[in-house]
Amino acid sequence: MADPIKMVRIPSLKNVAEFRSHVASLGIEIPCEEEIVSGERSPLAQPLAERLVNGKKIGNRFAVQPMEGWDGTRTGGVTPEVTRRWQRFGESGAKLICGGEAMAVRADGRANPNQLIINEHNKADLAQLRNDLLTAHRQRYGQAEDVIIGFQLTHSGRFCKPTDKLRLEPRLAYRHPILDRKFGVASGDQVWTDDEVDRLVEDFVRAARVAWETGADFVDIKHCHGYLLHEFLSAFTRPGKYGGSFENRTRILREIISGIRADSNKIEIAVRLSAFDFVPFRPDPAGSLPGKPGVGIPEDFSGCLPYRFGFGTDKDNPLRYDLTEPERFLQLCSELGVKIVNISAGSPYYNPHIQRPAAYPPSDGYQPPEDPLVGVARHLEVVRRLKASAPKELIFVGSAYSYLQEYLPHVAQYVVRNRWTDLVGLGRMVLAYPTILADAVNTGTLNKRSICRTFSDCTTAPRYGLLSGCYPLDQYYAAKPESDELKAKKKGAR
Ligand SMILES: Cc1cc2nc3c(=O)[nH]c(=O)nc-3n(C[C@H](O)[C@H](O)[C@H](O)COP(=O)(O)O)c2cc1C
Ligand code: SF4
Repeated sequence: MADPIKMVRIPSLKNVAEFRSHVASLGIEIPCEEEIVSGERSPLAQPLAERLVNGKKIGNRFAVQPMEGWDGTRTGGVTPEVTRRWQRFGESGAKLICGGEAMAVRADGRANPNQLIINEHNKADLAQLRNDLLTAHRQRYGQAEDVIIGFQLTHSGRFCKPTDKLRLEPRLAYRHPILDRKFGVASGDQVWTDDEVDRLVEDFVRAARVAWETGADFVDIKHCHGYLLHEFLSAFTRPGKYGGSFENRTRILREIISGIRADSNKIEIAVRLSAFDFVPFRPDPAGSLPGKPGVGIPEDFSGCLPYRFGFGTDKDNPLRYDLTEPERFLQLCSELGVKIVNISAGSPYYNPHIQRPAAYPPSDGYQPPEDPLVGVARHLEVVRRLKASAPKELIFVGSAYSYLQEYLPHVAQYVVRNRWTDLVGLGRMVLAYPTILADAVNTGTLNKRSICRTFSDCTTAPRYGLLSGCYPLDQYYAAKPESDELKAKKKGAR
């Protein structure tokens, strides 16, 4: 049986010295500046002057990561919850809104029946959403000229749930020996034909046109987290023009971008990439109790070697990354004129510990198999290596900083100052404490009671079909009836 790790909780560390010594005890590297620097000297306050996006410079060095809330209308339009989330993105002080949230390019590609859909029907809603974010930013910070906003375009592929919050309706890039078993795929009927992919490319091109007409500065062509275009990057075993060689596996991106340009659409392009994948994990059955999944262990991959079912995965040991192809992919992005690359990893559905390191697992997860700081260090290192080898024109955004908690500003300052990344992207922390880095820059102090402690309720709630939000720390969600429902479901699972 896999033993639970002995985790030192971040709030129990009294200062930077203790944080550093804890990091050292784990044998990992997470650089951390001694003091939070406020005011104009803060590395996080510096605009990204030399690389413009849609003719504008990004006004500082922190970004909001895309985060959906499972809370649009049934036709993919905007609700008050969506508006509130985007207003809080605006209030965060971040000058790059790196996708907002995943928006499906067509109704059957939604990851849940309440995901936003980017189409003509919802265009006015999306334009208003963008305006609401800018207004909230302007009201708090005086102006919003240097805020750059993108929309993340997606098809959820293997993880589509377009009609029922709890029922997968997968569409696959290829048959995956482990994921098919894990998520109940029994036939090849759900594999895309090449003709269907050709039509999907047109959906992305149409969605980019809608984004441009609503005033978005860029679209993020989502290639991460096990969703469709990420899955195509590892379609080594797929026959035909979208599988096999690197050229074929990246064809969709090339076709989408050339389609956008053929449509005389000047919108800028970003790509969010899961730069590496590990084999799927599961809770160790020997250590699992009702409501308390066991420690994460890898699914049995002994029959799948060399492993040809992940992108950026070491084929001989799929518990390690291999950045050879991700580096090549970023080179291609640059050649295609992509401006921003937002580096993430893995998938929340099958290896959440590498994607969003957390102290407390979501309901469909497992106890952390490693200290979550190991996951944070892995992200930092991968972004540093990819950025060092990539063309200088690409703007890099890094992910998975939220677990750093009190030490997030200290680490963020270091990685920006030392060019490990151009921008620090914040996910869960923004749901709990949107202004954490604005507070660091403006006052040098944090409101500790608002810090995200990675309780994972924002992931667990949608797993039960409820709205996502920070139930533990955001009163707006704590006061909703869904909060009691979530508590009851979590208790019932015990
Ligand atoms: C509730 C929730 C919704 C998310 N939605 C998206 C999404 O729509 N698109 C995306 O690329 N990532 C999404 N993510 C992943 C985050 O953008 C981010 O990569 C992840 O949470 C790790 O960063 P963090 O440590 O700052 O939270 C979501 C994460 C959470 C918690
Ligand atoms: S529910 Fe709140 S505290 Fe928990 S991980 Fe999400 S944002 Fe953080």
